[in-house]
Amino acid sequence: MISIENLTKRFGDRIAVAGIDLEIKDSEIFGLLGPNGAGKTTTVRILTLLSQKNSGTVKIAGFDIEKNSEKIKDIIGVVPQHMSLDQDLTGRENLILQARLHHLKDKEVMRRRIDEILDFVELADRADDKSRKYSGGMKRRLMIGMALLHKPKVLFLDEPTVGLDPQVRRKMWDLIRRMNEDGMTVLLTTHYIEEADQLCSRVAIMNKGRLVATDTPQRLKEKVGRVVVEHMEAEGMTSKFFDNRDLAAGYAAGLDTNAVIREANLEDVFIELTGRRVND
Ligand SMILES: Nc1ncnc2c1ncn2[C@@H]1O[C@H](COP(=O)(O)OP(=O)(O)OP(=O)(O)O)[C@@H](O)[C@H]1O
Ligand SMILES: [Mg+2]
Repeated sequence: MISIENLTKRFGDRIAVAGIDLEIKDSEIFGLLGPNGAGKTTTVRILTLLSQKNSGTVKIAGFDIEKNSEKIKDIIGVVPQHMSLDQDLTGRENLILQARLHHLKDKEVMRRRIDEILDFVELADRADDKSRKYSGGMKRRLMIGMALLHKPKVLFLDEPTVGLDPQVRRKMWDLIRRMNEDGMTVLLTTHYIEEADQLCSRVAIMNKGRLVATDTPQRLKEKVGRVVVEHMEAEGMTSKFFDNRDLAAGYAAGLDTNAVIREANLEDVFIELTGRRVND
């Protein structure tokens, strides 16, 4: 569905995206996981025609993003990292504005589509309140609704749950899963380990403009070792990785300090691959 070859983007002499290759399949929920400044937003902005690349090729549903930009606009929906609502308008008015941008002219078709969207993002009962009065989660759901109006095949979500509390975040995951079950391919960026782990079918770990690993969360964790033993040593906390609990327990039993045995997570994978944490 999305095919990226050797994509590069520079800002002056700073390289934001340093030659990435990536294939995203139809109907995946694909996550770009990485710390601040990794190049996630820059990548998404290029894929969604908001920014121009320096080199490389990008195809979405077989169409080159530069040669077929009009076609690409029909296929994709975008929810940017920062608020893109007019907060002086109601939820419904924001949707009407968006419908006009997509040349949805027939008033009756537009009204029905907007009602459908309001139901889907669970905002029907607040549709006629000014969006300024919405909670953070409601504003995000409205932005998703706006991106869905023209029935895109691929949805780009840049940090869809940043700043939301854990319960609201889980509701957002459910919404993303429902869209995906309806056949939509989703590419999202996140710096939340759990979000990448639980929501995404595959994850690319991004650091300093490069993709350092791409796989299912399960296989990424298996590569470092599924079980971790953490214990104190003279130089501080150390982690050792094992393929199973028995091996980990055997190692922990031989230590003369207390140890914690736990399942490996994507944070461990990130540290192993980059030497730093995702959220410093
Ligand atoms: N318009 C710009 N002008 C100059 N430099 C930029 C611009 N946009 C991004 N950058 C730089 O490109 C790099 C990647 O930034 P980007 O916003 O893509 O990171 P990110 O992974 O989305 O980070 P975050 O998690 O903070 O959103 C950073 O070093 C950033 O300073
Ligand atoms: Mg970003």
